[in-house]
Amino acid sequence: MTGLVSASVKGLQGTIGVPGDKSISHRALMIGGMAVGETTIRGLLLGDDVLCTAAALEAMGVTIDRDSDELWRVHGVGVGGLKEPNNVLDLRNSGTGARLLMGLVATHPIQVQFTGDDSLRTRPMGRIATPLSQMGTQVIARDGDKMPLTVIGARMAIPIQYALPVPSAQIKSAVLLAGLNTPGETSVIETRPSRDHTELMLRHFGATISVEDEAADRRVITLTGQPELESKEVIVLGDPSSAAFPLVAALITPGSEVTIQNVGLNPLRIGLIDTLREMGAQIEVTDARDQAGEPVADLVVKTSQIKGVVVPPERAPSMIDEYPILAVAAAAADGITRMQGLAELRVKESDRLAAIADGLVACGVAVEIDGDDLIITGDPDQIPGGVTVESRMDHRIAMSFLVLGMTAKNPIAIDDAHHIATSFPSFLTLMNEIGGKIEENS
Ligand code: S3P
Repeated sequence: MTGLVSASVKGLQGTIGVPGDKSISHRALMIGGMAVGETTIRGLLLGDDVLCTAAALEAMGVTIDRDSDELWRVHGVGVGGLKEPNNVLDLRNSGTGARLLMGLVATHPIQVQFTGDDSLRTRPMGRIATPLSQMGTQVIARDGDKMPLTVIGARMAIPIQYALPVPSAQIKSAVLLAGLNTPGETSVIETRPSRDHTELMLRHFGATISVEDEAADRRVITLTGQPELESKEVIVLGDPSSAAFPLVAALITPGSEVTIQNVGLNPLRIGLIDTLREMGAQIEVTDARDQAGEPVADLVVKTSQIKGVVVPPERAPSMIDEYPILAVAAAAADGITRMQGLAELRVKESDRLAAIADGLVACGVAVEIDGDDLIITGDPDQIPGGVTVESRMDHRIAMSFLVLGMTAKNPIAIDDAHHIATSFPSFLTLMNEIGGKIEENS
C-alpha cells in the first residue's frame, strides 16, 4: 500500500471496535516478559510497533507464542533475566518500544544496540539516557542522543528519585522499568500526570508501587525494586487514540451516528473527549465498566455542530497523541481553536506541529503557529481539500488527513499510508465499513 485518497461522504453509520491499546500492548509484553511463568494476553494490538517489541523481547530470551491473533502467551524470564541479544534491536517506527526497552535492559548486565527507521533515528533519546546514566547505565548514542545507540547495562544499579523535565509517560516508564532490577526504591516525580499504564500493569503483576499526590503539581511514584512478578492474564482494551479517528469522522460528517465499542477510558487518556465535548460534541458514554483497574466503555457519537475552543497546556499529557485529529475537528468547527503548549509535538513520529500546520494550509484551512501554540480558524463549509498531504512517516498524520477528506469539498490524498499499520492496521477496512470512501491512490 502506498498512497490513499479519501472523498467526501455523508451519514457514517455502524458499530465497530478498534484494535488493542498500543501503550498497554507494549507494557503487557514487557512486564509479562519479566514475570515468572506464563502470562496470557488477549486483544494485543497486532500493529508493527508492538510486533517489534515482541521480536526484541524474543531476541533477549523471552518466549512468546501466538496461539491465535486473539491469544498470546508470554513465558517470562523473571526480573533481571534478560540475556544479551546477538543482533541489533530494530524498533523501526516505535518510540515507545525503543524508550521503554532501553529502560528495561538498563539494569541488566548486558549490552544492547538499538536502532530504528528514518523517523525514529531523528528522535531524542537523551531524555531516557539522562536518568538511566544516574542509575549507573552507560548510553552511547550517535550525535549524543540519537539512535543507533548502545545501552551498557548497570551491573549494580543505583535507585534514583527522578523529576521528569517534561511530562512524558515514556520517560517515566523507562525509569520505572529500570527500577525493576534495582535494589531499593526508585521514584519518579511528575508535575503533570501522564498515562499510568505502567504503574497499573506493574501493580497487576504484583509489584509494590505507590502513587502519592503530594501537591497539585507533584505526584511521586515509587517502585520497590527486585519484586518477583507473578504471571497474569491481561486483556487489552480498545485504544482511545485509535477510536479518536472514527469518533471525529462521525462528528464532522453530516448525518452520522457511530458506536465504538470497548474503548479504554483511563482518566489520563481522555483529554480529547473532554475537549470535543467543550466544543459541543455529542458523545455518549455507555456501558461503563472496569477491566483489571482500567475503565472501559462504549462511545456513541453523532454529527454535531462544533465550535472553536481554547485547549489549555495542562491538558496536553492526556491527549498528546490526539492533536492531529483534534486539529481536523477544529478545521471543521466554527471559529477559532487555540491549542496551547504543544512543544512536545515537535518530537513525535514527525514534527507534528509543522505537519499539521502545513497539511491544513495545503487543504485551504487558516492556521497559525504562535510559539508552541497552534491556532486554527475553522469553517465547516470551507475546507477546499483537493491536495496530497505528506504523511511524513507518521501514522496519525496520515489517518487525520484521511478523516478530513471525508468532509472536505474535494478529496484529500496522503502520499504514503504505510505507517498506519504501526498502530491501526484495520483503519481502512473499519472506516469504509461505517461508510467512508477511502481507496488506494496510484
Ligand atoms: C506513550 C507516551 C506518549 C505518546 C506515545 C505513547 C506511552 O509519549 O505520545 O504515543 O505509551 O507511554 P510521551 O510520553 O513521550 O509523551
